[in-house]
Amino acid sequence: MTDATGLTGSKLNVLLIGGGGREHALAEAMSRSPLLDTLYITHPSNPGLAALGTPVDVPVSGKELYRLQQFCDRKNIGLVVIGPEDPLAEGYADALRKKSDGSVRPVFGPGKAGAMLESDKAFAKQMMRSASVPTGEGRVFTDPNAAKHYLVAVARDDEEVSGLIEGLDRIQDQSARYHALAALVRVGTAATHGGTVGAPDLSLLKDAGIGRDRADTVALAKRIAAAWDAPRKSLPVIKACGLAKGKGVILPATLREAFDAIDDMMVRKVFGDAGKKVIVEERLQGTEVSILALLDGRNILILPPCQDHKRLGEGDTGPNTGGMGAFCPADTVDEAVMRTVETDVFVAIADALRREEIDFRGVLYAGLMLTPGGPKVLEFNTRFGDPECQPLMARLESDAIELFLATAEGRLDEVDVRFSEQHAVCVVLASPGYPADPKTGGEIVGIDKAQEVDGVRVYHAGTRSEGGTLVTAGGRVLGVTALAPDFATARAHAYRACDRIRFDGMQYRRDIGAGVSATARA
Ligand code: AMP
Ligand code: GLY
Repeated sequence: MTDATGLTGSKLNVLLIGGGGREHALAEAMSRSPLLDTLYITHPSNPGLAALGTPVDVPVSGKELYRLQQFCDRKNIGLVVIGPEDPLAEGYADALRKKSDGSVRPVFGPGKAGAMLESDKAFAKQMMRSASVPTGEGRVFTDPNAAKHYLVAVARDDEEVSGLIEGLDRIQDQSARYHALAALVRVGTAATHGGTVGAPDLSLLKDAGIGRDRADTVALAKRIAAAWDAPRKSLPVIKACGLAKGKGVILPATLREAFDAIDDMMVRKVFGDAGKKVIVEERLQGTEVSILALLDGRNILILPPCQDHKRLGEGDTGPNTGGMGAFCPADTVDEAVMRTVETDVFVAIADALRREEIDFRGVLYAGLMLTPGGPKVLEFNTRFGDPECQPLMARLESDAIELFLATAEGRLDEVDVRFSEQHAVCVVLASPGYPADPKTGGEIVGIDKAQEVDGVRVYHAGTRSEGGTLVTAGGRVLGVTALAPDFATARAHAYRACDRIRFDGMQYRRDIGAGVSATARA
């Protein structure tokens, strides 16, 4: 390789930003590189990272980015790798690219504008539309009542809902209409469950002219409340437009859940400003896959497809999480799908970025649904997935630093990228209470024994050392990752290793990759 001074084969200092399982996997891959001099890390509280890197000696915060800039100059950092979405959205890449002497430092990770593909779902939708990237039909809202109106309009192909809502159409004012609807649902719920029917609600409904008399209003309200709680398969998905730590997407089962999601995001502001705008998006059905590509401003390098498991519970039940396990390669993605995704998603969006003069150097992650009508984009992330990164890095055979540096320097066409023919499976071990309210502080035992299983690496996500004892320190605690010649062995080894690890309340899915054919080959 050639560095900025024209020397070949010289080593370089690398700064890695981030502190989770993804970053542990990135740190380990980079530590295998003969190009690495010193690896500096921002999160030494993660013992996995602490074992591989030297902590930075300045505060790491968006407000004091100049401190990190000075650190990079002082330590002659030749490559910055940014793992998580928050520093990307805060513009760390833009700041750290600038050296004090006016020259450019290679940074792996897009600047603030490119990171908006993840940090602003409305922007991503607009870019996808302008580039004709296949994605679910969706509308952006800044007003909760308008979002509700749209939701009801969409749910109207359901005759029952349509009939029940008809009376409300007479109320011209949108806000008044949804106050009346909320009152109907409250009255109906109370009447159905033997609760007290609120007098203010009844008088609001009377004034709005809903129902011939009290009995008629209550009867209507009961039917609406029942419709409100009836499970429906194809209700749209509600998404907060901003970053919400992987919790900003709600797949409502009932209209009540859908309305509550809108109120949580837009009225109660549970995600702060991230919920100021929401997208109400068509629910897509199919198999979900993650296809990641490196973009360097000129070239696109598509990485082997992965599959993540987003829901907490086995059989894809329970709440969405950051990801409970992943494997790579994903055999559901055939050559034809890869070609479609390359042209219709990555080439199209890279062109759109160029048109907007956004210089994107880093990973673009397309979360895709393989629908009967072809692959459609659910979301973009502008970083490696966590846990997808763990199986990807386990399979990476070429030099990670050379690859990241080439991405940052716009030279992806010059590097030779090789992934092992082997299969990798990562199972996430999570704390009790994750994702809503993880309980931490429990002692973790058995990691060494787990790593004795053939081809197994255990990546630290939410752990810390407390007086020499390893304890849980986050929702997702460990990523137990196995590499083996075939998928079934990789899966069996990952689970054998999981069985050797213990902490109080440890939860994990036993069905990571369960649907994959045992004979799947790379
Ligand atoms: P996102 O953060 O947008 O990827 O959403 C998180 C998860 O919600 C995705 O990984 C999917 O499992 C699910 N999801 C998002 N959008 C949709 C959609 N339009 N239809 C069905 N599921 C979706
Ligand atoms: N595993 C999904 C994500 O990183 O967003």
